[in-house]
Amino acid sequence: MSQKTKKDRYHVITLPGDGIGPEVTTQAVRALEVAAKREGVAFQLEEIQGGGEHYLAHGVEWAEGSERRVAAADALLLGAVGADDPTTKRSVFTKPGKPYPTSELAGYALVIGNRKRLDLFVNHRPIRLLPGVRHKVSGKFMDIWEPGQVDYVVCRENTEDAYSGKTVEMKDGEGRVVGKTTAIEITRAATERVCRYAFALARERKKRGRPGKVTCVTKSNIIGAHKYFEDVYREVGKAEFPDIEQDTSLFDAFCMWQIRNPEWFDVVVAPNLVGDVISDNGSTTQGGMGMAAGGNIGDRHGMFEPIHGSAPKYRGQDKVNPMAAVLSAAMMSEWLAGQHGDERLRRVATRLEEAVAAVLLDAKTLTYDLGGEAACSAVGSAICEKIAK
Ligand code: IPM
Ligand code: MG
Repeated sequence: MSQKTKKDRYHVITLPGDGIGPEVTTQAVRALEVAAKREGVAFQLEEIQGGGEHYLAHGVEWAEGSERRVAAADALLLGAVGADDPTTKRSVFTKPGKPYPTSELAGYALVIGNRKRLDLFVNHRPIRLLPGVRHKVSGKFMDIWEPGQVDYVVCRENTEDAYSGKTVEMKDGEGRVVGKTTAIEITRAATERVCRYAFALARERKKRGRPGKVTCVTKSNIIGAHKYFEDVYREVGKAEFPDIEQDTSLFDAFCMWQIRNPEWFDVVVAPNLVGDVISDNGSTTQGGMGMAAGGNIGDRHGMFEPIHGSAPKYRGQDKVNPMAAVLSAAMMSEWLAGQHGDERLRRVATRLEEAVAAVLLDAKTLTYDLGGEAACSAVGSAICEKIAK
């Protein structure tokens, strides 16, 4: 890991994006600034607008030069991308050739593009249930899982698999288009890297009393490329991490086990699409997507984002839970602390996490998904008050 120098001001670019992205990012930034002030460290915040709404309005996903700007920042904080076209009511996709050869989700540059361009090889998604969170099932709030039973991390490979971006037409003998194929690509280099990250994380957690186990989740019984992922996982584990237990699970069954027995898992490693699905599914046990934070991490760059997406139907209503975004900002601060050897940033992260935990325990200012009636901004204010105390 590259050790960078300590700074007085860390340059963070926010990418609020679409839908509820700007609302939750606003609250995350507020909380981050209050916590930073208390620790005597500063963030120089800069915003870049972009995403599907931007594409609709301007014909480009973000302004020219944005790639260069995000590559120069110390860290990125992303809201969410994905907009609905007001006329068709369907997701906005880029037009072929503008700018990609095939049509992609408009906002691709900010999420998938950044992940690939900045080599953010792992998507680190903790699945952890915090005390005070109740589970909403069929509209009723229940205590289903217990905190302490839900505490694992999904390490999602973040640059390839079904996210190859390579979709081609299938043609019959007469040249008629009869279908489309999207390539599933798994390379040794990317797999080794994410597996090493997962094993090292399990070793770190083992020091803190966790079992020291990495579960590799794939569809290796059907997809050849996934079998390769699993083979590389075994090799890396055997050669470099003999102290860490290996465990494999097929993706379909895993979806059930992660709901029924989340306590079985410590660190999970998975190809990109599998990791995408199991992190959303696992969020059920942590109180829903409003609680699920994530970080796209590479050796030199980091981009942090709540995993929930843009939820266009709630856009502008000041209604959704900003906690996932605040917890993502905490992850960003923690990562920056490691990158720059700056303990103040680690304390900023702790302050943010403790404030969220305190608001949950108070149970007075919660959004609808957690059984409350508070607005997104009210939860942000409650978090800021806790930090200021
Ligand atoms: C995520 C999202 C993205 C993904 C979408 C918005 C392209 O679901 O970050 O998990 O599939 O990776
Ligand atoms: Mg997803």
